[in-house]
Amino acid sequence: MTTQRARVRKMFGSIARRYDLANHLLSCGIDFYWRRRAAEIVSGWRPHRITDLATGTGDLALALQKKLPDAEIVGVDFLSEMLDLAQRKGVRQVVLADAMNLPFDDASFDCVTIAFGLRNLENWGAALTEMSRALRTSGGLLVLEFSLPTTPILRAIYRFYLHRCLPLLGAFLTGKKTAYDYLGDSIEEFPSGGAMCELMAANGFTHTTFEPLTGGIVTIYTAQKS
Ligand SMILES: C[S@@+](CC[C@H](N)C(=O)[O-])C[C@H]1O[C@@H](n2cnc3c(N)ncnc32)[C@H](O)[C@@H]1O
Repeated sequence: MTTQRARVRKMFGSIARRYDLANHLLSCGIDFYWRRRAAEIVSGWRPHRITDLATGTGDLALALQKKLPDAEIVGVDFLSEMLDLAQRKGVRQVVLADAMNLPFDDASFDCVTIAFGLRNLENWGAALTEMSRALRTSGGLLVLEFSLPTTPILRAIYRFYLHRCLPLLGAFLTGKKTAYDYLGDSIEEFPSGGAMCELMAANGFTHTTFEPLTGGIVTIYTAQKS
């Protein structure tokens, strides 16, 4: 296992029990709306088999189950602590696996989703190629990720919150300040908007789109397997 992957495992393992509480408080509950919007987009594609990668405690998988009650939805995560919580919350199907090396046949899903997960994987291009492998031709990909607002004033305010306030609040809620230092740094490094669409296009996808939400602090990216 690479150092980066081991570090991410250790970090999420250490905050798993407090993950939901911290998430909902730090986003003032807006994260429910982000995942609902993602599920709404996916439901328009009418997929039958979906895998939600880096599913964590399963909030996106649950939003998808609600919108698409007849679809088969498989939550994947490499931490059993997260998957136990997801199952307790009602996620029907989970698989313990690494998103970089999925235990699924080629073309086995109509749709792949990943919320706040791609940024944490050590090679974004290779991860997208693996997602494309698991998708059938023309299958849909939806990525929900943090991004930085494009308006300069909003960006400055958000950066202050991200780097000064969030680590302190996160430390208070979970006892792990490093996890929230990492969050801000990883958001800064992750490609957003057009750059993310280029990355998807370079790794097996076409028809890329992006929709910024909440002033651009998160963005929903969609694409089709080419
Ligand atoms: C920020 S949480 C996102 C959880 C959930 N998708 C959500 O919307 O709240 C990131 C999750 O990705 C998982 N993860 C990170 N790297 C992974 C990998 N290589 N394979 C599978 N899961 C991974 C972590 O265990 C963690 O549960």
